[in-house]
Amino acid sequence: MSTIIEARPSGPLQGRVAPPGDKSISHRAILLAAMAQGQSRIENLLIAGVTRPMMDAVAALGAQRHLQGTTLEVESPGFQAWRSPDTALYCEHSATTMRLLAGALAASGVAAVLDGSPGLRRRPMRRVVAPLQRMGVPIRDTDGHAPLLLEARDRQTPLRGGVFTLPVASAQVKSAILLAGLAAAEPVEIHEPGPSRDHTERMFRSLGIAIEFRPGWVRMTPPRAALPPLRLRVPGDISSAAFLVVAALIVPGSHVVVEGVELNPTRTGLLDALQRMGARVHIRPRGQQAGEPWGDIEVHHTPDLRGIQVAGDLVVRMIDEFPIFAIAAAQAQGTTTVQDAEELRHKESDRIAQLVAQLRRLGIRAEERPDGFVIHGGSPWQGGEVDAAGDHRLAMALAVAGLVASSPVRVHGGHMFLESYPSFLEDLRRLGADVAPIA
Ligand code: S3P
Repeated sequence: MSTIIEARPSGPLQGRVAPPGDKSISHRAILLAAMAQGQSRIENLLIAGVTRPMMDAVAALGAQRHLQGTTLEVESPGFQAWRSPDTALYCEHSATTMRLLAGALAASGVAAVLDGSPGLRRRPMRRVVAPLQRMGVPIRDTDGHAPLLLEARDRQTPLRGGVFTLPVASAQVKSAILLAGLAAAEPVEIHEPGPSRDHTERMFRSLGIAIEFRPGWVRMTPPRAALPPLRLRVPGDISSAAFLVVAALIVPGSHVVVEGVELNPTRTGLLDALQRMGARVHIRPRGQQAGEPWGDIEVHHTPDLRGIQVAGDLVVRMIDEFPIFAIAAAQAQGTTTVQDAEELRHKESDRIAQLVAQLRRLGIRAEERPDGFVIHGGSPWQGGEVDAAGDHRLAMALAVAGLVASSPVRVHGGHMFLESYPSFLEDLRRLGADVAPIA
């Protein structure tokens, strides 16, 4: 696969498209299927760079998997009977794989090493290791980072539950504590400073686990019995849909329906932000899948977007969408300010520094702030050479920027979209976008 993606001025974008299964739900579904006892079946799973290491890891722990298209069947003895893997579990670039696995391994009590790419080794891991240690898990990090080392633990001795207050809102850390909590003697209660995504909670509830939750708070009572197998269909990923939504908003004459997308309120912050900007975005709920609301999103080109301020809980509810949100902001009249978003510096890249640097290369007026960024929108931008900085969401956002630039945008390292949205180029092209690998 080429590493340079070229996006050319295009349009209008028209048609209907369904993005692949949600990344966060796919990760949890694979892991919980392997923690459950018996045969689970997951449909519309995301098959991509980020989910492969999770599938490989559960196989190394003793679950058998059979993948056909996007349907995964997992036959497992349950986490209580996992075996210690022969080699380190290699999580590639996926922090979700590493942090969720740390919690699940803690519950199982097997010895394991969790490692990853140089990029993943730079991501903060103390935030997950510290609460697990408090629960009695023999785990340690390497100066706050991967590799993580788990020693074997006597499975007859349960872990400690209790009340955990997280310094940053993080669904990965919350989920790791909940997964470890499956082997705890007492209930686990978690307080967070913001409403991070609640997919683990919803999936626990669908498995019959006693759990209560509301934005920023969850309390789970560990089950005594083995986890029952899962049967679910993963709804489409709203974080992938986001690129199509913003592309349709900014390319003149566009009218697009993004179908089958998950609409969990902890994930729809971008849609709220765009609507506040005056975007012609309509949400059509269609039902529930895997305990998650889902539906279609209809988008019309909106030439008169207005700049807004984004802060507080809204940041948490759109945490993965800032690269593509910035492209909408660059088209909007006036200034857009993002604050309370220091966490963006700890994603696949330093998303504040990299985003601002790449947008400036296109002539977009953007400024860095310690906890966010400012964009002065409304002026046309030029094409040119930009760099994805090893970040899948930056790669896709910059490609979308190329659809309305005055000349082609070439995204170096653009192949990173394969991490989370392998059909990104195809889907955009099906709508009429001129975007292709060139080298
Ligand atoms: C995720 C949680 C978020 C998000 C990531 C996926 C998850 O990370 O950015 O892409 O599946 O739980 P944090 O938990 O670090 O906020």
